[in-house]
Amino acid sequence: MRLIVVSNRVPSPRGGDKATAGGLAVALKDLLQERGGVWFGWSGGVAEDADSRLRTTIDGRIEYQQVDLTPIDRQEYYLGFANRVLWPAMHYRLGLTEFSRNDYAGYLRVNRKLAEALVPLLRDDDVIWVHDYHLLPFASILRELGVRNRIGYFHHIPWPPIEVFGAVPASLQLLRGMAAYDLIGVQTATDAGNLVRSLVEQTRATHARAGRLRFDGRHIQVQAFPIGIDTRAFRRFAERDTSLPLVQRTAQSLGNRKLVIGIDRLDYSKGIVERIDAFEQFLLAYPQQRDQATLLQITPPSRAEVPEYDALSRQIDQSIGRINGQHGSLDWVPIRFVKRAFSRQVLAGLCRHASVGLVTPMRDGMNLVAKEFVAAQDPANPGVLVLSRFAGAARQMSDALIVNPFDKTEVAEAIHAALAMPLDERQERHARLMADLEARDVDWWAETYLAALTRQKKQLPSAPPPPLRTVRKKLPPPRPVYSLPRPFALVAASAK
Ligand code: G6P
Repeated sequence: MRLIVVSNRVPSPRGGDKATAGGLAVALKDLLQERGGVWFGWSGGVAEDADSRLRTTIDGRIEYQQVDLTPIDRQEYYLGFANRVLWPAMHYRLGLTEFSRNDYAGYLRVNRKLAEALVPLLRDDDVIWVHDYHLLPFASILRELGVRNRIGYFHHIPWPPIEVFGAVPASLQLLRGMAAYDLIGVQTATDAGNLVRSLVEQTRATHARAGRLRFDGRHIQVQAFPIGIDTRAFRRFAERDTSLPLVQRTAQSLGNRKLVIGIDRLDYSKGIVERIDAFEQFLLAYPQQRDQATLLQITPPSRAEVPEYDALSRQIDQSIGRINGQHGSLDWVPIRFVKRAFSRQVLAGLCRHASVGLVTPMRDGMNLVAKEFVAAQDPANPGVLVLSRFAGAARQMSDALIVNPFDKTEVAEAIHAALAMPLDERQERHARLMADLEARDVDWWAETYLAALTRQKKQLPSAPPPPLRTVRKKLPPPRPVYSLPRPFALVAASAK
């Protein structure tokens, strides 16, 4: 069986670690290096005359197959529909969505282009594993092109309740298109419940045997497979890499102060502004801790052309400037902020030096930084993880200090408790967290998912895949918004 991994972002084969920002690319690289296979998707490159010609690169056990996009494809598919509609909606932030029919048409067009570019590569025994929200309709287009292989999908980000997702104008079409997958993996049981309810309430899906759903003549399974990290490798990095000159210089520059660390892509889902405010609250509530701890926030920029990301970047700059100006002294700044990517080796070394890891997203599918922080610790003297209850990781990591990131006082108290935690309690919590990270690492995740996918019987679509054009439906005549019983209407009118 050959594994074909499909994801929107396929990092440059020789781009090194820094090029692999984001949990998805890191996890897929670990997976493919381990078991070998083809990695197919967008190169990240843009060219006016981009056609769907594939660029093939072999690196170790991975065969990279990449395509470029045209500027308009990138604008509509990636920046537009994927990152201004699906991303905010899936993170429960409907207020930030910006829907346009052109962007949605571009999203479908690029899914089709990618599917057409993949088909000539396929062999009968290939198992196709598609990743993330950029590619929701991908399997339905492959089916339309005659592909009968098993096709799985894994959703790396949260799946919200239908009351939220249903507000996306294309939601029904997207849900219907998902019938073409054989297995849909999500991060948590909550995500699985939300997706199943969406499918049952919005499409003709019905519950079938063994927890599967039947719709459009096919059986599909929706199940939670919490993603893991390459725990052993990350621990090894951390053991070795405290000696990297950059890590050593950073540690020395802190003097005796304790290090509190935050590492996140620049994204509103990560709660960076809220975390910075909580750190200020910590300084205000525990004045004896001033000058005793420094927050190092490392934030590689992301999706900079999306206006919401640009606004967030400016907001973070302002907050940090204000807090450092107000609380800092000549020889201490409370928050060090670096808007750049670093290699995983450097990050592992920094995490090992840190007394506290702050992972406080407002909503997150899993959050692999939480897992990497724990894996990087010295078991003899481990740091403490402060973790948002709205990260999927909180389901597995109950030995972290679990906080509500909307409550900055609670986060400030947790930072204080983490810094003050006695050694034996830190060791016990770390040992329990680590045992789970070792048992459920990235290999466990891939093995479990792929075993479930290969168990699915090959199916022929008995109904043709649903059309994926934007169709303007004929709407019934509008109903009055409300009609009050007459006497009440009169009272309401006279009360004006
Ligand atoms: C998250 C998403 C990934 C995405 C990554 C980086 O982890 O789940 O699909 O690749 O962010 O974002 P970008 O837009 O730079 O690919």
